Parts: sequence; structure tokens; C-alpha cells
Amino acid sequence: MSKPLIIAIDGPAASGKSTLARRLARALDYLYFDTGVLYRAVTWAALQRGLSPADEAAMTRLAETLDMDVRPPSQDDGRSNDVWVDGQDVTWAVRSPEVDAWVSVVAAHPGVRRALVDVQRRIGQAGRVVMVGRDIGTVILPDADLKIYLDASAEERARRRYLEAKARGQDADYDEILAALRERDRLDASRAVAPLRPAADAVVLQTDDLDADQVFAKVMALIQARNSAPLRRLP
Ligand code: CDP
Repeated sequence: MSKPLIIAIDGPAASGKSTLARRLARALDYLYFDTGVLYRAVTWAALQRGLSPADEAAMTRLAETLDMDVRPPSQDDGRSNDVWVDGQDVTWAVRSPEVDAWVSVVAAHPGVRRALVDVQRRIGQAGRVVMVGRDIGTVILPDADLKIYLDASAEERARRRYLEAKARGQDADYDEILAALRERDRLDASRAVAPLRPAADAVVLQTDDLDADQVFAKVMALIQARNSAPLRRLP
């Protein structure tokens, strides 16, 4: 098998998907695309407009019509991309606790998912991409060359989010983070359409006892093993 052109990374919140994907994309000179920002952008816009995230018809209409864009990063403040909605840079706004609390409700609506499939497939099928989400290996890009499912216990994932928030100087409560994360996992894994689960042909990595370097090394080893030609590393 030659070098994988489409790499799908799925898994629950804070399992290390974006860290891994960013590093893989840099090493391979591929595009990194985090599909969660699409669901987050719709959720942010709904809250701004005072719409109910539970209203499927309203959320579907919003997902179909929203003026949103994901662009290369304009600032060096830790962002991987800019996220723009309605002409505003909402890159950090879509990561707020309010959006965290509602995004899985919005993402469970079949109409919302349908509205966002085409844009994800177009980006993915162009190749040379590391695409991250919950249903990339199962629904969006079932023919991906390499599928990784990252997992870790809820306690370990909450610990990671807690430490990230502290490192940013934010107030954080471990128990609140753990409860919110469990609720989001429950909604993501139990929805009728495109629930969170590993694809049958995904490589599942349990990361409780692995740091980011070890996860990256394991996946690079998988890529090398499937690749006849050596990988080119960017300087
Ligand atoms: O970064 P984190 O793992 O916390 O979340 P995210 O990847 O930004 O995704 C936020 C939410 O969007 C998830 O909890 C899912 O409800 C939804 N999502 C989805 O349903 N399908 C995707 N492909 C990506 C995200």
C-alpha cells in the first residue's frame, strides 16, 4: 500500500485528535481539517440569534444557509485555522462553554449533518488531508486510506481539558469538566445518525498511558509500514 492520502481521525472529546492531526499534517505536508468547527459555528450562530438548539427545522435551515468559512490562520495565538461566521472571526468564541454545552444537541439533528456532508467530502476527497471528527471514518470518508480512532478514559480526558484551561489561565473545575464531557460523549454515541464509534477498519489507540509524542510516533510508524517510499519531513 502506498502513502495514505486521506487520513481520518475520530474519537471522543479531548482524546488528543487535534494534537495528533496537526502534527501529522505538518510532517506530511497535508491539510488539517477539524470538522468539529462546522458544528460549533452553527451552534454559536444559533445562540447568537436566540434560536433553540433543540429545534431541528431551525437548526437545519441555519446549517444550510449560514455564512461560514474556515481559513488558514491569520494570527499566531495557538489557532490552527480562522473560523468566520457572518463576517466575524469566531475562532475562539466557538470554543466557549456555552457552545460546548449545546453543540452535541445541534450535531444530533439529521438535517444539520446532511447540510454539512458535502463540504466535508469535497475537502476530504481532494486528498492529502488529515480530517478529524466523530464520523469521518464511518460516514464522511468511508474509503479513507488510514483510519485512527483515539480513545481514553473520561477521567483522563477531563484531566487533559482541565490542565489546558489552567495553562490558559482560565478558572476550571475538574468535576464540571468531567460531567460536561460525559454528557457530550453520551449524546454523540447515542444519536441515531452517524453516532460516535470506530469504523470496522479503524486502528483503535487507547491513549490513557501515552503522551502526545508517543501517539504521534505510533501513527507515523503505521504510516511508514503502509508506505513503500520514505516520508518527506518538512524542515
Ligand atoms: O474538540 P472536541 O473533541 O471537544 O470537540 P469537537 O471535535 O470540536 O466537536 C464538537 C462536537 O461537534 C462533538 O461533541 C460532536 O457533537 C460534534 N461533531 C460531530 O458530530 N461530528 C463531527 N465530525 C465533528 C464534531
